Amino acid sequence: MGCCFPENLLLMTSFMTASTPSTTAPLAGKTIALGVSGSIAAYKSADLTSELRKAGADVHVVMTESATQFISALTLGTLSRNPVLTSFWDEEGWQPGHIELADKIDLFLVAPATAQQVGNYANGLAPDLLGAIYLATKATVMLAPAMNGKMYQHEAVQKNLDALKGRGVEIIEPVVGELACGYEGIGKLAPIDVIVQKVISFL
Ligand SMILES: Cc1cc2nc3c(=O)[nH]c(=O)nc-3n(C[C@H](O)[C@H](O)[C@H](O)COP(=O)(O)O)c2cc1C
Repeated sequence: MGCCFPENLLLMTSFMTASTPSTTAPLAGKTIALGVSGSIAAYKSADLTSELRKAGADVHVVMTESATQFISALTLGTLSRNPVLTSFWDEEGWQPGHIELADKIDLFLVAPATAQQVGNYANGLAPDLLGAIYLATKATVMLAPAMNGKMYQHEAVQKNLDALKGRGVEIIEPVVGELACGYEGIGKLAPIDVIVQKVISFL
């Protein structure tokens, strides 16, 4: 009996370590709103959510309606351990949840960011929760665009990205690779570890 106690203790300790991020974790004490928009790369936001949380961040996922076609709010809510916002119209409480979130975050990260989102932010449009958070927050903003290469290289998208960079928005550039549309080229979401490292280096 006695011989087993230390082993149990070890198990308990490792369980506690796994479920409670240590204060020495690189993102301990940081609150992140992770915006997920309607790109095929949205499925990768599951890994991103998980990695950011494991790095110690309090992660609040906000999805566009299109994003919910690619990955469920249930998955991202479970991985983030926080409720997921998907619509203006089902928020509760006197203060809209997205404004409360915009006020409390250290970082607004949108990954993947669609051409639509890039255009909305560049032009000050808030047709959805992500556009409203972009306009309302004073936190650092980082976008990881993902789209077809021709879309990404289109002058209109590049102009929007330049406008955002000019306003201090950090763009995590997409990479070259096989794209979901069947083409090979630039437009693939930056690898999750690159995004996480970028977040850690900024916060
Ligand atoms: C299968 C599929 C994949 C898509 N992938 C992308 C993508 O990677 N990037 C992008 O900008 N749009 C993509 N779109 C188009 C967006 O979903 C569409 O522009 C949508 O309006 C974006 O809305 P949101 O920014 O509100 O999520 C895709 C559409 C489909 C049907």
